[in-house]
Amino acid sequence: MSAPVPESGAPSEADLYRIAERALPGAGLGGYSLPEDVRFVIAAARGARLISAEGREYVDYVGGAGANILGANHPAVVAAVQAQAAKGLHFFGTLNSTAIRLAERLVELIPCAGKLVFTTTGSEATAYAMRMARAFTGRDRILKFEGAYHGNHDYAAFSQFPTGPANYPLASADSGGVPGPLQNTMLVAPYNDLEVVESIVREHRSELAAIIVEPVQRVIFPDDGFLSGLRRIADENDVLLVFDEVVTGFRLAPGGAQEYFDVQPDLASYGKIVGGGGPLGAVAGREDVIDLTNPRHKGKADYAYINGTLHGNPVAAAAGLATLDVLCQPGFHAQLNARAERFYGEMQAVLQRHGVPAIVTGRASFWQFLFAGRAPRNQLDILASELERGKTLDLELLRQGVYVLPNVRRFVSAVHTEEDFTDTLAALDAACKVTSGA
Ligand SMILES: Cc1ncc(COP(=O)(O)O)c(C=O)c1O
Repeated sequence: MSAPVPESGAPSEADLYRIAERALPGAGLGGYSLPEDVRFVIAAARGARLISAEGREYVDYVGGAGANILGANHPAVVAAVQAQAAKGLHFFGTLNSTAIRLAERLVELIPCAGKLVFTTTGSEATAYAMRMARAFTGRDRILKFEGAYHGNHDYAAFSQFPTGPANYPLASADSGGVPGPLQNTMLVAPYNDLEVVESIVREHRSELAAIIVEPVQRVIFPDDGFLSGLRRIADENDVLLVFDEVVTGFRLAPGGAQEYFDVQPDLASYGKIVGGGGPLGAVAGREDVIDLTNPRHKGKADYAYINGTLHGNPVAAAAGLATLDVLCQPGFHAQLNARAERFYGEMQAVLQRHGVPAIVTGRASFWQFLFAGRAPRNQLDILASELERGKTLDLELLRQGVYVLPNVRRFVSAVHTEEDFTDTLAALDAACKVTSGA
């Protein structure tokens, strides 16, 4: 947003990209590679602003994919990380005191948590939740929802990115390299459609271990009664219900979606905020299910193996504890959500002023632009929207100094200031002028 001020002596962004193009596929760090005219290299953060290697400033709504509910370098989190790093970055094999303190805190906060296990990422957490559900029930199949994202592992790589209507409950692989036989272990249903879920679950109950759901699927909120309906269907058919709370955990409420929607799953997976931006995830849930991973039960038929070098990493645990301290302060979520929703109204007014036929869809701290007439109820509604126009608007916002990923759900954080919102509204105004040709 401000004029570029290159750091003296630092490699230029052009140099950094030359290195990245040589060393990294698509010069990216994973699933994203922005077009060359909008991409930037992050050098540092300040509150909700990111500063590029060339000194340009961006208001950040990507928020570390949702991990940075307090921004990327909140002073309390940085202090906790520094203090822990001085005592030790990493241990393995026996307990560390920081991980124990975080485990205690999580069991207090998470409604379904009889016990929990730590993982390194959210993807690992969903993979382990599926393994535990399979070990507990002795059944192989898992029902997921079309368009839901549960991470990068092979069982999650089905029907996340459908390009057209599905033949429910047939899952379609999203990636090369996923073994063919796995397709048969995953079933797919449309989000917010209890009737279809119930018929699939009834038909497959003898082979079904669990239903896994993002309580808020990307930017789509559940219809009233959808999550409690899943709970009823799971109970009536003797299958487990898993909430993937990797995004909703601690963001919607201290107790996550379970608290916000007042529905309790059997298991819940965590990542992102739980590690305060560091490498940490968790699976929490019913004691009788989590206990299948008890290392004292190695060798038993239903023992569910879980292990990882970084599980319970003390630096990430310290960051997580410091983050939870801030977001458990009274009124934290009410204030975050109210400020975010007011801001959505203000962005909607800008779109309307320019006659741009898009909605700011979302609630609480989740949002996205959608060129559609109403809020989406499932993935097919998203696909039916004008995604190219959404991408064009998002790319123009990037040019105007607002960091969003095209057509990807984004977040308001607790460190967005009124100035950040005002600058974003001005950037949106400019982006609307450019993209609508006004
Ligand atoms: C709902 C959900 N589950 C799982 C994951 C995977 O988490 P990670 O990227 O930490 O592996 C993500 C990541 O965005 C997510 O949004």
